[in-house]
Amino acid sequence: MSETLTLRRPDDWHLHLRDGAILDAVLAHSARDFARATVMPNLSPPVVTAAQAGAYRDRIMAALPEGADFTPLMTLYLTEQTEPADVAAAHAAGLIAAVKLYPAGATTNSASGVRDFDRIAPVLDCMAEAGIPLCVHGEVTDPEIDIFDREAVFIDRVLDPIRRAHPELRVVMEHITTREAADYVRSAGAGLAATITAHHLVINRNHILAGGIRPHYYCLPVAKREAHRLALREAATGGDPRFFLGTDSAPHPDAAKESACGCAGCFTAPVALPVLAHVFEEAGALERLEGFAALHGAAFYRMAPNAATLTLTRDESPLPPPGRVETRDGPVTVFDPGFALHWRVARE
Ligand code: NCD
Ligand code: ZN
Repeated sequence: MSETLTLRRPDDWHLHLRDGAILDAVLAHSARDFARATVMPNLSPPVVTAAQAGAYRDRIMAALPEGADFTPLMTLYLTEQTEPADVAAAHAAGLIAAVKLYPAGATTNSASGVRDFDRIAPVLDCMAEAGIPLCVHGEVTDPEIDIFDREAVFIDRVLDPIRRAHPELRVVMEHITTREAADYVRSAGAGLAATITAHHLVINRNHILAGGIRPHYYCLPVAKREAHRLALREAATGGDPRFFLGTDSAPHPDAAKESACGCAGCFTAPVALPVLAHVFEEAGALERLEGFAALHGAAFYRMAPNAATLTLTRDESPLPPPGRVETRDGPVTVFDPGFALHWRVARE
């Protein structure tokens, strides 16, 4: 008899679905396992207005496989020109769940992001007033700051000042990668939360750099040393409702990753739940997986948890090693945790 674990259907609070050929190829992998996902707006050009978010949502709905039960939760890409009234109206209309702050130059398609954080004060005031969460890519872009320190420095230089200036603003630190970030979230009240990816729970920087450079493990924020992975694992599996799942599944065609200047992003959607079940089992915390993947995020976003359930089974025979997903823009390699995956999502 295989072991089983049934939980409410999970949500993914940080997902890159892209557009066009990639969207068509990757969407089913998220829609199969997740009921809702917060869809990142860093398209090229970015999704900066409510009208663009509405059009993008329509393209996602059109690409959904027949019968899929999946709701995309849209986000707006914050720029120094973002109009507070446009944000407020998009939220009031139920079109967007959050606004995403990218420091300019921090990651994929972030060139239109924010350089001068004082300029976004009016829109942050408006969001605080309306209860609209701000999702933050928490890395400074100062070339003098070592890439492994950019998240910790961001907390001191940018995030903490923003939170002090806007104490009512609800903030999600996205895809945290350090002990400092986990501690910062714990030190704050209920208005601050963090997403954690599946891949940052299983890789550290050795996976990227030791024994040859492995571009499919490169993402931003970059994985840090082992002590940080362990701190993230403690945060994710510890039951604290301020930590919840955001896979940051970020597909790029292999040709763009396996290159002299490879793109950042790990495509984890097809294996995110099997990897998480492995991690939670290893931590002796399988009973807390539902909180992390299906309850805490919904509570932070003030949404009801999903009524439907999903069952994971643990089989002696492992899943086949993750391969590639074919797209009209070429293959996209699926994240390989580097160990056998014995948990799988039961399919009807
Ligand atoms: C993301 C992408 O490719 O859009 N890449 C990544 O490494 N995580 C952007 C992001 O979330 O930083
Ligand atoms: Zn992301």
